[in-house]
Amino acid sequence: MGLLRDEASDPRRALPIGVFDSGLGGLTVVRQIRRMCPQEDILYLGDTARVPYGTRSAQTVLRYSRACARALVSRGIKLLVVACNTVSAVALDMLRVELDLPVLGVIEPGAGAAVAATRRHRVGVLATAGTIASGAYPRAIASRSSRTEVFGRSAPLLVPLVEEGWLDGEVPRLAVARYLETLAACDVDVVVLGCTHYPVLRDLIAVESRRVLGDDASVVDSAEATAEELRDFLATRSLGAASVREGRLRMLVTDRPQSFADVASRFLGHPVTEVEQIDL
Ligand code: DGL
Repeated sequence: MGLLRDEASDPRRALPIGVFDSGLGGLTVVRQIRRMCPQEDILYLGDTARVPYGTRSAQTVLRYSRACARALVSRGIKLLVVACNTVSAVALDMLRVELDLPVLGVIEPGAGAAVAATRRHRVGVLATAGTIASGAYPRAIASRSSRTEVFGRSAPLLVPLVEEGWLDGEVPRLAVARYLETLAACDVDVVVLGCTHYPVLRDLIAVESRRVLGDDASVVDSAEATAEELRDFLATRSLGAASVREGRLRMLVTDRPQSFADVASRFLGHPVTEVEQIDL
């Protein structure tokens, strides 16, 4: 008697959720988590010294991911959300084996949302070269629907455009249209935003998708699907924060905290003042 742990008083509930990305794109996931789990504290790490990950080898991404995950775990988190699609594509299994806490990635939720959205059973994925090369989206979608075909297109130019804050006008529009044109030949009716940065261009991608792919084309945001999965996961495991106050967001980066703070303010829609620099 007395040996069973009372779930309601699990001390892990008070710990923050750890979230990491190669840079600032993961804030699109943070924004969705704050919308769906507003009372959760979040500890965010952006590896701005080593971004981008999307053009690197899987081995290098594994090494960087391990360092990021350990930095967050050593500071005390209850669960890890891998916001980066490239890391989720190549390093999720390794992190799940090595870490003694739940690890959620963005690909499985994005794949689930894509299968639910497609009517023609033909899905297009825009992502980094690393994510496309890994085949992670086709695998995740095949495990949910064997009849759905998946067509990938790497869209590397969209990452620097978002980092620059160049979000409207002809340049991003033409880049998005060019990437979508390859998918038009595949007759897809769903476009998955398979990279942390792309949700920032969501409205533009949605408009161009309808123009290039047809009026019934829809856009699936992995960030949103991940936050929904996180909310359900916290509820079923009784791991959600017990407090009712608004959750705090603490941000760590590995380089250039000031420029991160400037762009983060735009991503999150409110001023960001405190960003700490750490070494991995
Ligand atoms: N975070 C990366 C992703 O979601 C995009 C930026 C990068 O290449 O590091 O795939």
